[in-house]
Amino acid sequence: MLGHKLKVPFFDASANYNLNKIVIDEALQKVLEGGAYINGAEVGLFAQHLATYLNVNHVIPCANGTDALCLALMALELQRGDEVIVPAFNFIAAAEAVAHLGLVPVFADIDPDSFNICANSIEEKITSKTRAIIVVHLFGAAASMDAILNIANKYQVPVIEDVAQSLGGEYNGKQLGTLGSIGCTSFFPTKNLACFGDGGAVFSADELLASKIKMLANHGQEKKYVHKYIGINSRLDTLQAAVLICQLKVLNQQIEKRRALAMRYADAMRNLPVSLPNETIDIKHSFNQYCIKLSTSEQRNSLKEYLEQKGISTMVYYSSPNHLQEAFASSGYKKGDFPVAEQLCQIVLALPIFPALSFTHQDYIIEHIKSFFGDA
Ligand SMILES: Cc1ncc(COP(=O)(O)O)c(C=O)c1O
Repeated sequence: MLGHKLKVPFFDASANYNLNKIVIDEALQKVLEGGAYINGAEVGLFAQHLATYLNVNHVIPCANGTDALCLALMALELQRGDEVIVPAFNFIAAAEAVAHLGLVPVFADIDPDSFNICANSIEEKITSKTRAIIVVHLFGAAASMDAILNIANKYQVPVIEDVAQSLGGEYNGKQLGTLGSIGCTSFFPTKNLACFGDGGAVFSADELLASKIKMLANHGQEKKYVHKYIGINSRLDTLQAAVLICQLKVLNQQIEKRRALAMRYADAMRNLPVSLPNETIDIKHSFNQYCIKLSTSEQRNSLKEYLEQKGISTMVYYSSPNHLQEAFASSGYKKGDFPVAEQLCQIVLALPIFPALSFTHQDYIIEHIKSFFGDA
């Protein structure tokens, strides 16, 4: 196969759509003809279905994953200047949501094996002003929730879980997003459970928190034109809810495909000088991303370029840690503050992994990775 040049995208949203096209088209047509484009029946129905899937009491759909994080923080009624611990190696959304609300993002370092926030680093960062911890289960795998929840209980600080990249993953048999006080997710097209645009949700077992979040997402309204809180407008469109009802039905099947692809990558690369994502006994990885670690940034960059030349797209998640982003320059962080997060940014490379990726295309990727290492 090395002789034939294929084109392998990093992600293919329309190919994923084609996997479930017939039912999705029908569901979309029904909404279009029904005319209830905002808060149609599908929105409530999707919330019920997701609550059943997650085995959680309350799901509140909203406009996107960043809003979900903002709504969770708003519901905790924190005061300006309160501190919220967030991972230094992450998409910017958590730190951004914290800062937007006038709170202080306090970064913590990362466990190099799981890519997730490190429990010891969290404990080091706790002060008398810490009011919440945001745990992001990155790339599809759970953070060390037992250790983190022990710390959270010890200091009486609520945990918000961000499962934007890990919906459907598990920790000791429990769905991620249901272990802390509030769970947040995104339905951005690359996610495990994805819609065809923006979408998000917040979930909680706590009735009071959930009813507050529901109001906050709808202009703080208790009932029509009665505003109990200063809220925002963060709605999931009916069309997106209709798509999500269809996609939720195939979520487990699609996670199994991701897991099969991950297993094939692991089998094929076992003897190469790369570090592969691992699945410990207490977690079920959902492989939203398949991130390998190279020895150096030069090696990572040359593998990326080599694969690009062969028609294979890869991504660097993430090229810079949050604390070194210009947006947080005034916070006083500097290079060297979070060595693991900084090192990961130099050596990670995400390989294509999505439900519609064929084994043939994956074999092509694998062959070229092997040939890069002279192991063809
Ligand atoms: C871990 C994580 N949290 C939050 C978000 C934000 O989600 P959204 O783009 O829906 O606002 C993302 C988006 O990619 C993400 O990866």
